[in-house]
Amino acid sequence: MPELQVSIARHYHERTKYSPQSIASKSHSIDWANQPVPFKEYKIGTVYDLKPHLMGDLQNGEAGEWQRLSRLLYDSYGLTVKMLTMSGEAVYLRSAPSAGGLYPTELYVISRGTPLLPAGLYSYQPQSHSIVRFWDSQVWSTLQAACFWHPTLDNTQLAIVLTAVFYRSAWRYQDRAYRRIFLDSGHLIGNLELASAITDYRPHLIGGFHDAAVNELLYLDATQEGAIAVLPLADLLDVRQNLPLAPTALPSATQTDYPDIPDGELLSYFHQATQITTADLRTIAPTALIDDKYNFPFCLKVSTASAAIDWGENLTMLETTMHQRRSTRAYSGAALKLAELNALLDFTYQPQHYIDQELDPTPDYFDLNLIETFIAVSGVDGLEEGCYYYAPKAQELRQIRFKNFRRELHFLCLQQNLGRDAGAVLFHTADLQKAVDQYGDRVYRYLHMDAGHLGQRLNLAAIRLGLGVSGIGGFFDDAVNEVLGIPSDEAVLYITTLGRPSQA
Ligand SMILES: Cc1cc2nc3c(=O)[nH]c(=O)nc-3n(C[C@H](O)[C@H](O)[C@H](O)COP(=O)(O)O)c2cc1C
Repeated sequence: MPELQVSIARHYHERTKYSPQSIASKSHSIDWANQPVPFKEYKIGTVYDLKPHLMGDLQNGEAGEWQRLSRLLYDSYGLTVKMLTMSGEAVYLRSAPSAGGLYPTELYVISRGTPLLPAGLYSYQPQSHSIVRFWDSQVWSTLQAACFWHPTLDNTQLAIVLTAVFYRSAWRYQDRAYRRIFLDSGHLIGNLELASAITDYRPHLIGGFHDAAVNELLYLDATQEGAIAVLPLADLLDVRQNLPLAPTALPSATQTDYPDIPDGELLSYFHQATQITTADLRTIAPTALIDDKYNFPFCLKVSTASAAIDWGENLTMLETTMHQRRSTRAYSGAALKLAELNALLDFTYQPQHYIDQELDPTPDYFDLNLIETFIAVSGVDGLEEGCYYYAPKAQELRQIRFKNFRRELHFLCLQQNLGRDAGAVLFHTADLQKAVDQYGDRVYRYLHMDAGHLGQRLNLAAIRLGLGVSGIGGFFDDAVNEVLGIPSDEAVLYITTLGRPSQA
């Protein structure tokens, strides 16, 4: 064991990096006999069918309340398409994407007691678009205590809790699944943010809570499933619930004295190590506002100023886009236009430009100051090929390398053609050491959820513009930095490919 151990978050990240060597040595066969089911069933409970409330113009009164809840859940995590496998089995895809279509995230609703939903615990059942009330007692004050009396729970009546069923993703991706679980959940958080705007809710994000207490509250088997985010849902039609912004992230401990952890046990060890207990609770470190990077005098700088994407009257086109979104399976290789890339960046990073369309100008993230964006441009009309840093505050692209990287991108994305044929490949990165210094090991969760959240905005903007888009969770980590010139202290979190969909 090395004398000076890095934190468990950095250890986990190093241990789960892909390289040509690690892929060759760790190749394993998938256990098809134990393929996980992506749905959780409750045998006992009261079922509330949300299907009848999905269609039609928004109504007043109780019918309208049901419509809002039904649409919020369907737009965020509903089954939007049924496909048949070669053997004739039905496979369902959802409004939120998920690595490998494994859907490790479960969604629960907790009610404090409303005319619609009596107090208790509800599980969202996407396969029947219903919620099942599996526990019918008042649990709100237990939730408040578990969230360390987060102020947004004082005035809200409903909360969504996201959990992860680890095996669903680990079945295929082993220990590296932890990254994809939080990326997937970040996409879902992005959908919840936008679907809430459509249905007059405002989700407040809480990532810092007493893990064991929330797990117990939901009666989870904590060896299989764990709470990862709590989102009190403010009802914007009730003036008392128009709440100020509140902290989203709390720090955990930083663990450096961990034992040798065998492969296959790293994910669960790491999850345990990132938990918060009351004893860990510290005040939140204020987030320093930092400037954009790479402002070198002689590098090529290109403004990304753009007109806002039009989401239609009452955000109808946003809702349609959420239902229609699919990950693109192949690109034609044709170029994007610079105006298209700029519009994608505008929607993703400049939410304040969408206030006129009644979208949230300051949606909750855990800490976007920790995340950087780099874009490898292989085919964007009006933009030189190369690798660029995206400066969100200045709203400009700053070129850090000049080259066509198509061949290299194919390699970096584990030989997936999506990387080669995309017009632009976007990388989210973070200085992991700096992030751990600020938030402890739990920051690993926050970083991946924030990257997924940004990824979902990119996905929806691309689909709205008729472009292709797909996340990529598997890549040769270190090679990305080496090849594209991204500083080595920037850990690569996630890749989003953007291009013109192939017609075939
Ligand atoms: C975190 C994440 C990682 C992904 N990684 C890949 C990938 O490496 N290659 C790929 O072809 N698709 C990838 N996808 C896309 C999924 O395969 C896709 O979301 C899933 O099959 C469901 O299809 P849908 O997005 O069309 O609903 C990824 C999606 C997410 C959210």
